[in-house]
Amino acid sequence: MATSAKTITLAYTGASGLPYGVRLLEILLRSGVTVHLVYTQAAQIVAKQEMDFILASRPQDTEKMFAERFGDYSGKLKVFGIQDWFAPMASGSNPGDGMVICPCTMGMLGKIAGGISDDLIARAADVMLKEKRTLILAPREMPFSAIHLENMLKLSHAGAVIMPPNPAFYTHPQSVQDIVDFIVARVLDHLGVEQTLMKKWGE
Ligand SMILES: Cc1cc2nc3c(=O)[nH]c(=O)nc-3n(C[C@H](O)[C@H](O)[C@H](O)COP(=O)(O)O)c2cc1C
Repeated sequence: MATSAKTITLAYTGASGLPYGVRLLEILLRSGVTVHLVYTQAAQIVAKQEMDFILASRPQDTEKMFAERFGDYSGKLKVFGIQDWFAPMASGSNPGDGMVICPCTMGMLGKIAGGISDDLIARAADVMLKEKRTLILAPREMPFSAIHLENMLKLSHAGAVIMPPNPAFYTHPQSVQDIVDFIVARVLDHLGVEQTLMKKWGE
């Protein structure tokens, strides 16, 4: 795969859909992107429930776990604690090239829409918006309430890209992996990271 000098913040929150976020991490690393990963406590619970793996409380343990899973990308993956205010993405002086929250809870969406920056994910998202960088949210809930929809509209007006992980079937997916890859490919397109997971329409 092509290499990229980009730095992307990737955040996991406690919504269903962690397989999308984990596949995204794998492809970003394989593409040469530097990934700054941060996750909530609820994401740790969902990781156990959905994927049967441990997102550890100590960042260095998670770095080791992903190195064992995906190979060692020599320092390209850095994991940060949810209250680590010294992390680069906490400041407008070092926001990186983009941020993805995948999956994104309704709670995190509401916090960001309300400007409440009380953890590293909400703060980094706030930074991306004020610095006019790419912020992608993959919110997952069904159905959406008026509050969820209003928060999404507010964030869209503020410059965020709202990408609910809704699979399409015109590509004739044959497996869950195909469905996951469809979502991940669209997110990569928006990040400007070249991908070969899914052919572009008409090609
Ligand atoms: C297995 C599981 C699945 C969940 N799925 C969702 C979901 O799809 N969307 C959502 O907004 N919350 C979902 N939740 C609830 C959130 O995890 C909960 O609201 C939590 O407080 C969110 O915290 P966070 O935003 O800090 O990650 C789920 C919880 C569990 C345990």
